[in-house]
Amino acid sequence: MDNNSLTALFGDDSTAQKSGYVIRAVEVCKVFALGEHETHALRGATLDVRRGEYISIMGPSGSGKTTLFNMIGGLNKPTSGKVYIDQVDIAQLDPYELAWLRCRKVGYVFQSFNLIQVMSCIENVMLPMAFAGLSSEDAHDKARDILALVGLGDRALHKPAEMSGGQQQRVAIARALANSPDIILADEPTGNLDLKTGEEIIELFARLRDQLGVTIITATHDLKMLKRSDRIVWIEDGRITRVTTPDEMKIKIEEIH
Ligand SMILES: Nc1ncnc2c1ncn2[C@@H]1O[C@H](COP(=O)(O)OP(=O)(O)OP(=O)(O)O)[C@@H](O)[C@H]1O
Ligand SMILES: [Mg+2]
Repeated sequence: MDNNSLTALFGDDSTAQKSGYVIRAVEVCKVFALGEHETHALRGATLDVRRGEYISIMGPSGSGKTTLFNMIGGLNKPTSGKVYIDQVDIAQLDPYELAWLRCRKVGYVFQSFNLIQVMSCIENVMLPMAFAGLSSEDAHDKARDILALVGLGDRALHKPAEMSGGQQQRVAIARALANSPDIILADEPTGNLDLKTGEEIIELFARLRDQLGVTIITATHDLKMLKRSDRIVWIEDGRITRVTTPDEMKIKIEEIH
């Protein structure tokens, strides 16, 4: 399948905009079986995400945030229930289509950065572009632009070990942006960062949403992540218990400042 037919499968921006929803999770359940022991990580999670929304998935440790995040990003399959990205049921995709989705449609930011240590910052950002078939010259130019966007224009040749945690997190975000995804999924993106650096990362996400229309979904248990979100999805023991706005949370957020 070539890129044109994949674009046709997932729709161009105008098709997706018409539908309003970029991601739909319907009654998603996930059971992990370890020997005789079963863990019900998700117990019927339903969530609709509009294009250009900034959503925080919030809940205590072990509540199912990363599991939900992996389901809606096509990194793992639900035990039951459906996930649609741009109206496409991702369970119907063959391995090639799924790889295309993971490479181009969704950008992932992992808590532990997952940067390649022997590569410079710019090489890390260029890597997904190489998978997408971009020439190395084009990839280099694009990676430079993205690094400038995340405020690391002067660090292109540094290796991860030569950078601070917040800078490495920004390289991970730059890498997630490499193939101009519609959606960014960020798992605990401020988990390892101090207050100021964490706030810079949140502002960066808000800017990506405002300037590029990227849909942002973060999994977090960090209250300061919430204030720029459009909606906060609360998850507890594998169930979405409520969906709120930051205004409804205002008192709580002010308490932590
Ligand atoms: N691969 C797996 N095999 C077995 N159990 C798993 C697996 N992944 C997650 N779980 C279990 O599923 C539940 C939800 O885990 P999950 O990682 O989604 O939580 P979380 O909300 O992201 O927690 P945290 O805030 O600590 O990252 C937990 O009880 C966890 O132990
Ligand atoms: Mg997690």
